[in-house]
Amino acid sequence: MFSSPFVLAFSLLLSLPILFFLAPRIFPPSHTSVPISLDDELDDLSLFNRAASQSSSNPSNPSRVSHISSSKNPKLKIAFLFLTNSDLHFAPLWDRFFLGSSTNLYNIYVHADPAVNVTRPSTGVFQGRFIAAKRTYRASPTLVSATRRLLATALLDDPANAYFAVLSQFCVPLHSFKYVYRSLFVSPSFDSTSPESDPNLSRLGIRVRYKSFIEIISNEPRLWKRYVARGRYAMMPDVPFEKFRVGSQFFTLTRRHALVVIKDRSLWRKFKMPCYREDECYPEEHYFPTLLTMADLDGCTKYTLTRVNWTGTVNGHPYTYRPTEISPELIHRLKESNYSESYLFARKFSPDCLQPLMRIAKSVIFRD
Ligand SMILES: *[C@@H]1O[C@H](CO)[C@@H](O)[C@H](O)[C@H]1NC(C)=O
Ligand SMILES: *[C@@H]1O[C@H](CO)[C@@H](O)[C@H](O)[C@H]1NC(C)=O
Ligand SMILES: *[C@@H]1O[C@H](CO)[C@@H](O)[C@H](O)[C@H]1NC(C)=O
Ligand SMILES: *[C@@H]1O[C@H](CO)[C@@H](O)[C@H](O)[C@H]1NC(C)=O
Repeated sequence: MFSSPFVLAFSLLLSLPILFFLAPRIFPPSHTSVPISLDDELDDLSLFNRAASQSSSNPSNPSRVSHISSSKNPKLKIAFLFLTNSDLHFAPLWDRFFLGSSTNLYNIYVHADPAVNVTRPSTGVFQGRFIAAKRTYRASPTLVSATRRLLATALLDDPANAYFAVLSQFCVPLHSFKYVYRSLFVSPSFDSTSPESDPNLSRLGIRVRYKSFIEIISNEPRLWKRYVARGRYAMMPDVPFEKFRVGSQFFTLTRRHALVVIKDRSLWRKFKMPCYREDECYPEEHYFPTLLTMADLDGCTKYTLTRVNWTGTVNGHPYTYRPTEISPELIHRLKESNYSESYLFARKFSPDCLQPLMRIAKSVIFRD
């Protein structure tokens, strides 16, 4: 009966939508990114499980910092997490940033792509601070994995790590360490979008609630293209489009939120899937803001502390400042924020900006 041309045409017609629906499964995606291997997944999982169980069983767990804590508590530290796939070009500037500050107040962790011959500084604050790392690729979930690895390592390493700031080799500080520390832990007015609810406690120097400084945007025009980059229904049912968010991968999380990130399994199952469209695939810009929106939006400021210039963006890269542009005026301009008293960090700077930045470090950047 299939000899009938009508039936043949009809069955072909019928099979078109089926083919359309199944196509992504039949034809492998054209992306070039390497999927995360099972071995790497299991390694990470065991690290995350250790970090989660140790952190929640520790009685002096400073995750309570996210609710209430005294500014006089000397134990709270900032964990600076550097994610890099090249040399730490601004290491001398960061050395200067931390100069004279007690290591009771901070820790540093570096995740360097092992496939790149990254120079490990033999002196200064980065010495001995490189953690077990795996390969990272642009437009792939490996950047999310690397960030989670940094968070888990820092959670495990020191129960006093209370804030976790993710930075890259192209980031520079805009203030002294003292200013950064006071802004995050002490100042009741630093975050101008979330005035303290209890002025009495503020007067005593007690922060009622610590928030994560993470950009969260829901009305970005390209959001839909990013959402369907893995297939129309790929993110369902865990992440409906209404819950999908975008924001910078350079954020500062509370310990409570760092734990949320390393404990997550269900969203990671979705975001680790490879994309069909590499030009719309930046999982690190979606995973964290989406997860924290779903877990605890009230605990997030919805803005980042790392200034970036997206004017004239090329190929998904922000504007990169050159040595001739470095001036006290530029530093002042980069600090200006609509949300907080100031931005604390900025990116991106070309490596040869180091010398001009060093020249104004003491007189401009760290003078506050
Ligand atoms: C890595 O860089 C160092 C210093 O530049 C050099 O001595 C070494 O041979 C390099 N190693 C590789 C594997 O390229
Ligand atoms: C702050 O302190 C004053 C005086 O001690 C008191 O009357 C007031 O109720 C307190 N406010 C809050 C929000 O606890
Ligand atoms: C941002 O970059 C543009 C060039 O794309 C430049 O003209 C502008 O001055 C920069 N803005 C700031 C605040 O540096
Ligand atoms: C602050 O808001 C104004 C008005 O919306 C905008 O023009 C400006 O670019 C914003 N500044 C920063 C640093 O985002």
